Amino acid sequence: MSNYIHNRFASTLISWYEDHKRDLPWRDTADPYLIWLSEIILQQTRVDQGYSYFVRFVQHYPTITDLAAASEDEVLKLWQGLGYYSRARNLHATARIVAEQYKGVFPTEYKDVLSLKGVGEYTAAAITSFAYNMPYAVVDGNVYRVLSRIFGIATPIDTPQGKREFAELADELLDRKNPGTYNQAIMEFGALQCTPANPDCGRCPLSDMCMAYAEQKIGEYPKKAGKVKTRNRYFNYLDIRYKDYIYLHKRTAKDIWHNLYELGLVESENQLSIDELQQDSRFREIFARAGKVTIKPAFQAKHILSHQTIYATFYSIEIENELQGDYLQVKTADLEKYAISRLVDRYLEQL
Ligand code: ADE
Repeated sequence: MSNYIHNRFASTLISWYEDHKRDLPWRDTADPYLIWLSEIILQQTRVDQGYSYFVRFVQHYPTITDLAAASEDEVLKLWQGLGYYSRARNLHATARIVAEQYKGVFPTEYKDVLSLKGVGEYTAAAITSFAYNMPYAVVDGNVYRVLSRIFGIATPIDTPQGKREFAELADELLDRKNPGTYNQAIMEFGALQCTPANPDCGRCPLSDMCMAYAEQKIGEYPKKAGKVKTRNRYFNYLDIRYKDYIYLHKRTAKDIWHNLYELGLVESENQLSIDELQQDSRFREIFARAGKVTIKPAFQAKHILSHQTIYATFYSIEIENELQGDYLQVKTADLEKYAISRLVDRYLEQL
């Protein structure tokens, strides 16, 4: 690529960024802990949703040592509602590793940052460039979109060749004098100007060098080889009450919502009627010593996650004797102390 295009691309992005950037709290700091925290929160979350979580995490845990000293249950509770809870578990585990192995000082070498749990190439580049101004180019969804459109790159981004090609181009284009600002600029440009749907190309400072715009094919970039299949799951949730207690179960299996709490659950291969549910051996096992069981359908919800769709039916259940087995008996008033999934929260909210 000519030097002219190279320099014009970087300088246009940076001056656009100075004029249009949002005022965000993690941009006023070079503290790698705060930058890491913001990047983990923003990994699968929009800025307007992540903002208040970032502020609350910083209030609770001003330093990485404070975060390391918290319990996992407390961190998961503070994370509640953000989804993708492995991010919170990794965040907490990493804080403990930094506290112990790095004496509370966030690592400064790229390879050490990359080795942290929950930190991939994108996040390692973001942290080292924003905090230390090191020359690592970020490649996220915004960068794929901007580069594929401007340079007319048709290689699918979800293939090994695509990943390699975009990583090489991003590295070539990186402004080595201002890697941190350049990286922020290209991501902000993707988020605000070169948007997925209906970008305002009439006002774009790079439209005259944009190949997708010249071809009138903005909507076709970036290209993807194929979408991942999603799977359907059927959850029969049991809201079991005894006096003023409710029963919770901790999800310990390797699955979604690992280590969060939830209601009693019978998962099935397809949608069950209330009679079919009551015949199910797992259902009968739960209530084997519960005495009289009164059950009513209470709520239905379709809950969409990135790789699965959950069809949930909630039943409200009263029992005569205390429940036996692997359940936590919790005062209804204490329910809010437990980290639960957004799906169960949706049910509880409408009660
Ligand atoms: N998304 C991921 N990282 C971000 C950042 N630093 N600023 C704004 N949006 C982001």
